[in-house]
Amino acid sequence: MNLTLLVENNPEIVNFYKLNLLTWLDLETVVKKKSFEALEFLTTPLAKEIKLIIVRAKIENEQSAKILIERVDQLKLKIPIIVIGGGDYAPYPQVSNSLDIKNLIKTSAAALKITAKEMSTKVVPDFFPIPITFFQMIKKPVCEVYGLEAQTGSYKLEFSHGQDLDQATIKTLISLGIKNFYVKKLNRLEFVNNLTSEIVSKLELEDLSEDEKITATNQNIELLTNKVLSIGINEDTIRLAKKNIESLRKNVKMNPGLSKLLDQLYRNKTSYLFLHTQIISFVAIHIIKNMEWGSPEQEEKICFAALFHDIYLENDQQAKVHSSNELRQAGFTDEKKNLVERHAQMASELVAKFPRAPLGADQIIRQHHGQLNGIGFSEHHGAVLSPPAMVFVLAEEFTKLLLKQNQENVDKFEIIRELKERFPTSRFSKMIEKLDTLLV
Ligand SMILES: [Fe+2]
Ligand SMILES: [Fe+2]
Repeated sequence: MNLTLLVENNPEIVNFYKLNLLTWLDLETVVKKKSFEALEFLTTPLAKEIKLIIVRAKIENEQSAKILIERVDQLKLKIPIIVIGGGDYAPYPQVSNSLDIKNLIKTSAAALKITAKEMSTKVVPDFFPIPITFFQMIKKPVCEVYGLEAQTGSYKLEFSHGQDLDQATIKTLISLGIKNFYVKKLNRLEFVNNLTSEIVSKLELEDLSEDEKITATNQNIELLTNKVLSIGINEDTIRLAKKNIESLRKNVKMNPGLSKLLDQLYRNKTSYLFLHTQIISFVAIHIIKNMEWGSPEQEEKICFAALFHDIYLENDQQAKVHSSNELRQAGFTDEKKNLVERHAQMASELVAKFPRAPLGADQIIRQHHGQLNGIGFSEHHGAVLSPPAMVFVLAEEFTKLLLKQNQENVDKFEIIRELKERFPTSRFSKMIEKLDTLLV
């Protein structure tokens, strides 16, 4: 058995690590919530099975990593240690953003001297086992789920794709000692990635570092998009949408200046779709705060629009198209071209069905490329858009110009100059003026 000793007290992070260490590196995990429990475990016979220690730098008031490192040194144990969280623990490898699972897996593989090639050529059984307890964390599986028939050794379909998981049945099976369900080999990564996002979505953002908040928001928005597009609007997606809007607003609040936010977004390798959603929220909130009609409700509405405006776009390349000319040059197939042309209209229709969506959010989304009907792109922005839609259009254009600049050397006044040229009407000018006080 290959055992990992994980010292961590956050149950979501524990689940998140357990699942991924098992899937990617075949590691079983023993969890201890405090360093003294971990030290105790090191004195048991099972300790010799430990191949890796992953320890949170600090747990509450305890210097957990320091305590563990000292003890492992004293005992002259040759077990690699990875520290999760900030601080200086050199020469021990460190993963400062605890939600950066790719980095954790990479660092763990390096510590265990497992090469990328070995990972990719690992023999995977046709039916891949997933501990049954993980099925208590999701409502619907994203692929078919099988059970193993003990007598015959064959696999039988337990839940279909998208079917509600019956938690009472799962509880009974657990009490009968069933340890695993199975998914087909080809579905396993999709399943694990989805489950990982589901676990992250349950994290309380307050407990996270600033970098982790950014990573969590990115993942939660991707999860929301996948869920809304696959299963539609329900209680679960409404809850997640609310949480995402709060996160977008909080990420704005925790960053007084734009450069710091941008730096955080880049540092944590967020997708363009999320990155531009977060920056649009930042810029739009600033303008709204300075308009006479501005209010917290309007700020919430603009974040709601930012969250859903490009929901039908499939990738960053599509999201970067902002004009008919760019669309022509993008080289998309007719089908994709049609999607990009209509995405504003489609998203606005979707949002109109959303119970308790902020009033007028669908209009902002429909008009976010300057067209009243949400089809195509406006060249001159001559249409009489609603004021919040105008703010959105400006914020998105600002974002686009900002991302073209050198990240180290943001020139806000150059952006403002270009915006004035592109949006010469007095209605837009009044809003552009408000950007003079935007902190970079
Ligand atoms: Fe966009
Ligand atoms: Fe768009």
